[in-house]
Amino acid sequence: MSEKLWGGRFEKSTDEMINDFQASINFDKRLYREDIAGSIAHAKMLAKCGIISADDLQKITAGLKKILAQIEAGEFKFSAELEDIHMNIEKALTDDIGDAGGRLHTARSRNDQVALDMHMYVRRQVEEIQRLIIEMQKALIDAAEKNLSVIMPGYTHLQRAQPILFSHHLLAYFEMLQRDSDRFCGVYDRADIMPLGAGALAGTTLPIDRKFVANELDFDAIYLNSLDAVSDRDYILEFLSAASILMVHLSRFSEEIILWCSREFNFVELDDAHCTGSSMMPQKKNPDVPELIRGKTGRVIGHLTAMLMTVKALPLAYNKDLQEDKEGLFDAIDTVKFSLAVFAQIVAGMKIKAENMRRAVEEDFSNATDLADYLVKKGVPFRQAHEISGKLVHHCIERGIYLKDLTLDEFKNFSDKFDADIHAAIKPETCVNNRNSFGGTSTEQVKMQIVEARAWLKEVE
Ligand code: ARG
Repeated sequence: MSEKLWGGRFEKSTDEMINDFQASINFDKRLYREDIAGSIAHAKMLAKCGIISADDLQKITAGLKKILAQIEAGEFKFSAELEDIHMNIEKALTDDIGDAGGRLHTARSRNDQVALDMHMYVRRQVEEIQRLIIEMQKALIDAAEKNLSVIMPGYTHLQRAQPILFSHHLLAYFEMLQRDSDRFCGVYDRADIMPLGAGALAGTTLPIDRKFVANELDFDAIYLNSLDAVSDRDYILEFLSAASILMVHLSRFSEEIILWCSREFNFVELDDAHCTGSSMMPQKKNPDVPELIRGKTGRVIGHLTAMLMTVKALPLAYNKDLQEDKEGLFDAIDTVKFSLAVFAQIVAGMKIKAENMRRAVEEDFSNATDLADYLVKKGVPFRQAHEISGKLVHHCIERGIYLKDLTLDEFKNFSDKFDADIHAAIKPETCVNNRNSFGGTSTEQVKMQIVEARAWLKEVE
């Protein structure tokens, strides 16, 4: 006979294939901790409000703790026949403690129960992700500090633009991750609203105390509208959106590392332990890890898109479509956490080829803006200075030399404003350190960024 908890109005048992189709236990079993904590808080509230006896509460609490231990020991038998984590646990409890177990679901529906579990689960995962973001940020600051004065070309249009500090480039990613962390704070706030007590959709006839449950489970607020409580998945959309943006940041950095590892750039080398070889080409050392992070970004964005599609045009309140909120979210959580952990290692183990970066600056014209700025400081209008510098660059290209190779006389042929200090003015170090405007690439500004970054990390730890 069927062991379904809702079997009363049915004559036939569920078709086996339908059972498998609609069961979520294979993936929602990861909510077991939240489900049990939520049920204990609910039972305490029922007892406090005189809806169940103290004796029932004691049995329920002990029974649920026993189930928790069984699940953690891998001894609990999950069944697809019982659909989901909620009914698997409730059935096991009732089998164990009898009638008291049958009273646990008083004034509750799986609709508000699953909402509660998911809110708690998202809160916990947000905290874990924020911790991993910090680890990645630490790896970035460490690498920035270690390579503080390494100069590389900064790019626009993937063309060498102006010399910058490599540390400045790394710290740009620190800032992006900082915003990611902030965004996750917003996700936390929207997940920090307590839905239990909404019942299936309309509340309950029983004298419950939702504030008590919110307090027990450390929620900041309670849903004001029961329909909203059971059908809101905004916090999941926001999670997936914050996760997508974070992955996009990791993907941009991955792309740069992949380029930098190429023979064409040759700016960094990844640790052997972080790369793989080719089964055919003996010389290969491939940056698979950043490639894979770049690839997985599409997958997380896909989960966001899928979830938006799921809720689009969904009538209130609960519909089974909402069960589809889980697999994508869980996969996004796993992907983001794994990617962050792996990326922190990649950054920590990355060998910086400072000489090659330097050569890329010296053997090019990324100091041309500095040449123009030099003339501006001698009173030449910027547009004219730009024109003169452009002509000098053209002159050098024709002769196959660089600006630093020109003699003072040659400079003077283009403008009488050039003096003996011109060569010093277009050295990479000068170019970098003169960009001392707030947030610029000078050593002073980068040191300031590091101080700010360390202070922030101290604050959150
Ligand atoms: N497994 C379901 C889900 O994840 C739980 C809620 C089921 N509610 C219902 N009315 N069938 O959404």
